[in-house]
Amino acid sequence: MTQGEGGARQDSEPCADTVALAPDVVSSGGMIPRAAAPRRPPGLAAPPALTSPIVDLLHEVYEKYRAMRDGELATYIPELAKVGPDLFGIAIVTLDGHVYEVGDARSDFTMQSISKPLIYGLALQDHGRDTVLKRIGVEPSGDPFNAIVFDERNNRPFNPMVNAGAIAATALLRGDTAAVRMARILELFRGFCGHEVVIDEAVYRSEAATGHRNRAIAYLELNNGMIDGDADEHVDLYFRQCAIRTSAADLAFIGATLANGGVNPASGEQVLASGHVRDVMSVMTTCGMYDYAGEWELRVGLPAKSGVSGGIMAVLPGQLGLGVFSPRLDDRGNSLRGIRVCEELSSRLKLHLLDHRGGARSAVRRIYRGADRRSKRVRNAADEAVLDAVGAAVRVVELHGNLFFGNTERVIRHILEDKEARYLIVDVGRVAAVDEIAAGLLRALASRFASAERTVLFADAPAELQARLGLAPGDVSLDLDTALEHCEDALLRRVAPAASPRVGLARLRDFALLEELDEDELRILDDHLAHRSYAAGETIIDEGTASDSLFLLLGGSVDVRVTASGAGGSIRVATIDAGNVFGELALLGTSPRTANVIAATPVTVLQLKASRIAALAIRHPTIQAKVVAAVGRSLAERLRRANAVIRTLTR
Ligand code: DON
Repeated sequence: MTQGEGGARQDSEPCADTVALAPDVVSSGGMIPRAAAPRRPPGLAAPPALTSPIVDLLHEVYEKYRAMRDGELATYIPELAKVGPDLFGIAIVTLDGHVYEVGDARSDFTMQSISKPLIYGLALQDHGRDTVLKRIGVEPSGDPFNAIVFDERNNRPFNPMVNAGAIAATALLRGDTAAVRMARILELFRGFCGHEVVIDEAVYRSEAATGHRNRAIAYLELNNGMIDGDADEHVDLYFRQCAIRTSAADLAFIGATLANGGVNPASGEQVLASGHVRDVMSVMTTCGMYDYAGEWELRVGLPAKSGVSGGIMAVLPGQLGLGVFSPRLDDRGNSLRGIRVCEELSSRLKLHLLDHRGGARSAVRRIYRGADRRSKRVRNAADEAVLDAVGAAVRVVELHGNLFFGNTERVIRHILEDKEARYLIVDVGRVAAVDEIAAGLLRALASRFASAERTVLFADAPAELQARLGLAPGDVSLDLDTALEHCEDALLRRVAPAASPRVGLARLRDFALLEELDEDELRILDDHLAHRSYAAGETIIDEGTASDSLFLLLGGSVDVRVTASGAGGSIRVATIDAGNVFGELALLGTSPRTANVIAATPVTVLQLKASRIAALAIRHPTIQAKVVAAVGRSLAERLRRANAVIRTLTR
């Protein structure tokens, strides 16, 4: 029904001629209709929007703890006591940078101890693990965060998550002046949060005025030779880093960056090397929640860090970062509601790092033989027959996912069990990442193959995997089809060195298409054929034009290409060698041409024009019938091969 008919129209269904207005085209001069408003047929209005089950779950958890008022604000830093005690926000950031948030997830508070793991990471970056380990241990102390206790046997603080360890880590930070060192800290936090960060001056001054216990710790460390340099400068930097402003959403971003091997999932910046990230998360696991670390590990099971301002930052490596803000604390200085939320989310979403998530998924997507899926090169009849007979010597193992020891071991076992495969193609086009161990195993396998007169080719390796897999620059562009063709060539050279006349001219009797014709018939046909030559790169058949000739390829080879839809360009469908025909549609009177045929090398053909085909049909119907039957057979053969490829794809 159209507007003009004046009948009842359902309001919920925009009519085809309704012009939608985008908010960004509202100007002071009035509303300008959006140029390309989608026209929906009646009955196809956008369906009602859906809410995400993850958003709903987050709201549920938020509502469950919203009314909770247990715990007290930290007051020993006077400025912290001024915060709204009932603020409450939760945020989750995924490894593709998506943010789920609820409540006061963007409210400001200060990092306090949540700065500690990041500062430890910076110390590791400045000095390496061995030097840092000599200065700061990694053992849980079991004492409160501000305890004045040291690992006396090793003359160092117990770990970098308690104040004594964090002050020692700060003392290790490089930089000629305090300003340079502070700028480096702010730069690190900027990378983790994905935006500039600032210090809350009031909170900083408040702690600087009252933080004598931390000064005492620094002076004791100086006295004991645990730290060097200016103790006052170190403590001042420590107070400032604790006063950096943050939010639950920021904490979730910090967690997600740690979960992502040190790469901020939104900016893509590598903020900290992945080896240091692992060390940071290790101490978060054992010491991040102070004297609650053991029970936290049992109930929540995520590397985490809390701060006295009420924040908790937690990490599920490889999956997500979590930030919670709720300033009322328990007597250990951890956010009370924050802990409950983390427990609840961990159990409802099965986030515990040690939860069983199934074994290593097989990295083998499918395995097939070179006989089942041949390269796009159409060879002469003799070579085709050889490859059909011995194609099992070529084996394609298609891998997917992330490769690491657990699943690559299985890949290696599969491959070694296959005693027949002389030419192995490992198709890594669907592999997302390969760790050093898996890459080393695959390289070792390839060199073992080489020493046993066997070949391994890695096909379709994404650029970032090529060096890992030890591919020489020459191999870099090897796609699966080229790899198949290499293996077929090698197989033909090995099995039938004489049967591959790629060079030189085919004779009429070499054509499978003409196998039914006797000598007289071949001579008659010959009279209808015209010799033609093409230079490499010349187009012989144009897609979309009339099918007016059949071509017998005497010498050289041609590429059959179809125009790709969308962005353009063309796709190679086949490469045809001498001894084969192309343009068969002309014989069947079918137009237009479905592909382009381009000379891949200098090419010699015999052309059978449509007019000559018609003449042949009238004067020599037997010849015509034999050739048409052969075309039918060759099309059937191509269908058989196409089906075989489809079979390998659906396996
Ligand atoms: O040094 C302090 O006491 C504070 N700037 C940080 C302590 C802290 O956040 C302990 N965490 N729960």
